[in-house]
Amino acid sequence: TLPSHVRIVEVGARDGLQNESAVSTQDKIKLITALADAGITDIEAGAFVSPKWVPQMADSSEVISALTLPNTNLTALTPNLKGAAAAHAVGIKEFAIFTAASEAFCQKNINCSIDESIARFEDVMAFAKAHNIRVRGYVSCVLGCPYEGDIDPQRVLEVSQKLLALGCYEVSLGDTIGIGTAKKVDELLDVLLAHIDKSLLAVHFHDTYGQALTNIYTALKRGIATVDSAVAGLGGCPYAKGASGNVATEDVIYLLQGLGINHGIDLQRLAQAGWAICTALNKQPVSKVSLALKNQ
Ligand code: HMG
Ligand code: MG
Repeated sequence: TLPSHVRIVEVGARDGLQNESAVSTQDKIKLITALADAGITDIEAGAFVSPKWVPQMADSSEVISALTLPNTNLTALTPNLKGAAAAHAVGIKEFAIFTAASEAFCQKNINCSIDESIARFEDVMAFAKAHNIRVRGYVSCVLGCPYEGDIDPQRVLEVSQKLLALGCYEVSLGDTIGIGTAKKVDELLDVLLAHIDKSLLAVHFHDTYGQALTNIYTALKRGIATVDSAVAGLGGCPYAKGASGNVATEDVIYLLQGLGINHGIDLQRLAQAGWAICTALNKQPVSKVSLALKNQ
């Protein structure tokens, strides 16, 4: 059954901008502020990763320290203790750790095996616990991998359970390359929901093959009530060649409205935030809803 309320985790400022041409620190601050003004409560604001690996996120400390958004839960990627300490230093209250259901992708993305990543996260979790910070876990490649192809749902289950056992409050299931279809989503959730409560899962779907909204609808019907999305459909993944951005937040909101599901977000203001960042990037939003609203 469909949830009555869906929590949007807006990842455009991180997942989106990590794969766009460089955006100024000021434009990032404006974007995150505009998203909060549109009613988004959970915003992934940056990534405390190696600047050699992802230069676009190198100013995350500056961005986050410039924000004063008392009602917004700002989160950031923290792959290791160094990242965790830097995020904590600017007041981040929710970390995100990230691994994969594919060994090859894990190596390319964070330069270690899945087991090594879990071991590394133990330090991050201990740090988070000591500072009263909650931690979200990501599993990439849940519906397919650019290097390994098909991924067995059983592997997604194992990695998800390890993240939950570490103390993550939620696991976000990443279709990193947007390759999944509705049937695969159902098959994955058949396996996961037999062992994991739906309240502990989120979906994080990229839209490379145009399937993200259908896949989200499939997950909503299974009771999943947290959806990651990026305003204007920004971004992609630097370690997944050809992957396009996340599903556009505007499109998800339009879907939720049509289904009568509460979300608390002002679609017009959200669309304006998307247009503003796209102007800075010198491109148009990828969101069809945003384009349609503009032409009304
Ligand atoms: P490494 O090279 O194995 O680590 O990288 P290291 O500990 O040997 O450090 C190497 C250098 O990086 C050192 O600097 C460290 O100080 C520095 P040097 O001595 O060479 O000058 N370093 C750091 N600097 C700043 N902040 C840090 C940090 N850690 C080390 N936290 C590491 C390992 C994880 C750091 C690296 O592989 C990395 O940063 N990877 C980036 C991964 C990334 O950001 N990927 C994109 C996000 S994930 C994603 O998009 C998927 C998701 O959206 C879900 C989905 O769609 O599926 C979440
Ligand atoms: Mg992603």
